[in-house]
Amino acid sequence: MMTTENKDITILAIESSCDETAAAVVVNGRTVLSNEISSQIDIHTLYGGVVPEIASRKHTERINQVVRKALQTAGKTLDDMDAIAVTCGPGLVGALLIGVSEAKALAFATGKPLIGVHHIEGHICANFIAAPELEPPFLCLVVSGGHTHLVLVKGYGEYEILGRTRDDAAGEAFDKVARAIGLGYPGGPKIDKAAREGNPDAIAFPRGKVAESAYDFSFSGLKSAVLNYINSCDMKGETFSVEDVAASFQKAVVEVLVSHAMAGVEQYGADKIALAGGVASNSALRAAMQEACGERGVTFYCPPPVLCTDNAAMIGCAAYYEFLQGKCSGYDLNAMPNLALGEKRESR
Ligand code: KG4
Ligand code: ZN
Repeated sequence: MMTTENKDITILAIESSCDETAAAVVVNGRTVLSNEISSQIDIHTLYGGVVPEIASRKHTERINQVVRKALQTAGKTLDDMDAIAVTCGPGLVGALLIGVSEAKALAFATGKPLIGVHHIEGHICANFIAAPELEPPFLCLVVSGGHTHLVLVKGYGEYEILGRTRDDAAGEAFDKVARAIGLGYPGGPKIDKAAREGNPDAIAFPRGKVAESAYDFSFSGLKSAVLNYINSCDMKGETFSVEDVAASFQKAVVEVLVSHAMAGVEQYGADKIALAGGVASNSALRAAMQEACGERGVTFYCPPPVLCTDNAAMIGCAAYYEFLQGKCSGYDLNAMPNLALGEKRESR
C-alpha cells in the first residue's frame, strides 16, 4: 500500500464509455465534491439507440466544459488533484478514447499520476459512496446495459465472477423489448414507468435458465418470447397492452435476477449484497431485492439512481483504491473496449 501520511487524496475522474460525458472530484474514495454528467439521451433518442460515432463527437465537444465544471463545483483546481482517473474500458472504443485522451493530456500537463479504471469496477464502487460503512467481502449483482454479472467482491480490486449472462445483458433486454413494444429509447426507465400501470401476471413469460450453471443468466429467450407474443397478437389482429407486456417482462427479469442473487447469498453464506449498474435503478428490482434480503436477514445495499447509471464519481472511488495500492497507469494507457472484469492490471 502507498503511504498517504493521513493526507486526503483528491481525484479528478472522467467517464465517457457510452453516452454520458461525466467528470467528478472525489476525496478519499467516498466523499463526492462534484459529480457532473452531460447526458446525450436527447440526441440518441432521435435514432432509437446510442449511435457510437455521434457519442464520440459529443464527448469531444463537451468534455472540457464538463471537467471545468466538476473542478469549479468542487471549489478545486487541477493543482489540488492527487491523481487523474479515467474509465479505460469496457465500452464504445471511440467514446472511451475521448476520456482516455483527455485524462492523459491532463496527467501529462500537470505531472499527476494517471489511473485507468474498469467501468464495471466503477459501478460496483458506487456502493462505497452510497454506504460509507460498506467494506468487502460482499456479493454484488451488476446489471448494466452491457453486463450482467454476479460477483463476489473479495477485497478492494479483487473480484470473483460467479455468474454472467450467456447472451443479452439485462439492460440490453430492457432496451430491445422497449423498442419492440414502441416505448423507444432509453428502454429501461420507460419500461419501469409503464410497468407501474400494468399487470405483472398478465402474460406468463419464461424465466431463463442455464442448465449447467446455477449463476449464469440468459435473457434472449425471454426477449424472443416477448417478440413472439407481439407478433401473434398482430397476426390475430388483436391489440396488446403495452403496460401488461412491460410489467410481465419486468417481473420475469426481476425474478431471475433475484433468485440467482439469493442462491449466491445462500451458498456463500453472504451477509451483505449490493446492486450496481444502470438496471439497479429499476424500482421493481430494488423492491424485490430489499424484500428477499429482509426475509433472510441479509443487508441490502443499493446506490441512489444517479450513482447507478453512468457517472464519474464511481470511477473516482474505484481509482482511489487503485491509487492506495500503487496501481497507476502509464502514458501508453489505451481504450480497451472489451476489458474483462478483474483482467490483469499490467495490461493498463
Ligand atoms: O450502467 P449503465 O448506465 O450503462 C452501461 O454501462 O451499460 O446502464 C444502462 C442500462 C440501459 O440498458 C438502461 O435501459 C438501463 O440501464 N436502465 C434501466 C433503468 N434505468 C436504466 N433498466 C431498468 N429500469 C430502469 N429504471
Ligand atoms: Zn455503465
